[in-house]
Amino acid sequence: MNSAPPPLVTAALDRAADFAYSCDPAVGRLLATLAAHVPPHGRVLELGTGAGVGLAWLASGLVPRTDATVTTVEYDGERASQTSSGDWPPFVRFLTGDALELLPGLGTFDLIFADAVAGKQTGLDLTIAALNPRGMLVVDDMSPAPGTVWDSEFAAKQDAVRRTLLTHERLVTVELPHGSGVILATAR
Ligand SMILES: C[S@@+](CC[C@H](N)C(=O)[O-])C[C@H]1O[C@@H](n2cnc3c(N)ncnc32)[C@H](O)[C@@H]1O
Repeated sequence: MNSAPPPLVTAALDRAADFAYSCDPAVGRLLATLAAHVPPHGRVLELGTGAGVGLAWLASGLVPRTDATVTTVEYDGERASQTSSGDWPPFVRFLTGDALELLPGLGTFDLIFADAVAGKQTGLDLTIAALNPRGMLVVDDMSPAPGTVWDSEFAAKQDAVRRTLLTHERLVTVELPHGSGVILATAR
């Protein structure tokens, strides 16, 4: 049984009415749970802010802490400014730009939700390099939604992500049939 979504998530869902790519509630609750686990002064990164639903779950896992931070990166300037205009905790930092250009300058993180093509299907090596030791990487949407079929090009890209995460020597990885299909990878 799940409790009602936290207020930040409810606000984000209102904002996300016109946005089809937000993470699903099962993935969101996992994000909140993992965010709550980051160490003192922990650093969380999201690639692909979208309408802020995933971000809201991550931030909800951290409140009322004030030591940790969440950085979120969005390429679409209009989307980024719409999402950042919400009422967010002070530990949320919005960056607008290309995740692949920004990633090398952002430092390292205890939790990364890689939810844009950039940093997942392309430049996954940069995302892995941005994990602290014991840092955790989350990707979702690893299974087609019920009743849908991926085209072969997209399926091949997702398979490449899966293969990289499951075989990378720096990572301890599990794929879970949770929500839209999740892979969790912890850096050694
Ligand atoms: C799946 S949506 C993100 C959903 C959000 N993480 C959530 O859970 O609610 C992917 C987002 O990545 C953004 N994006 C696409 N290419 C990007 C890039 N190169 N750098 C940063 N963001 C990018 C898209 O504009 C889109 O808003």
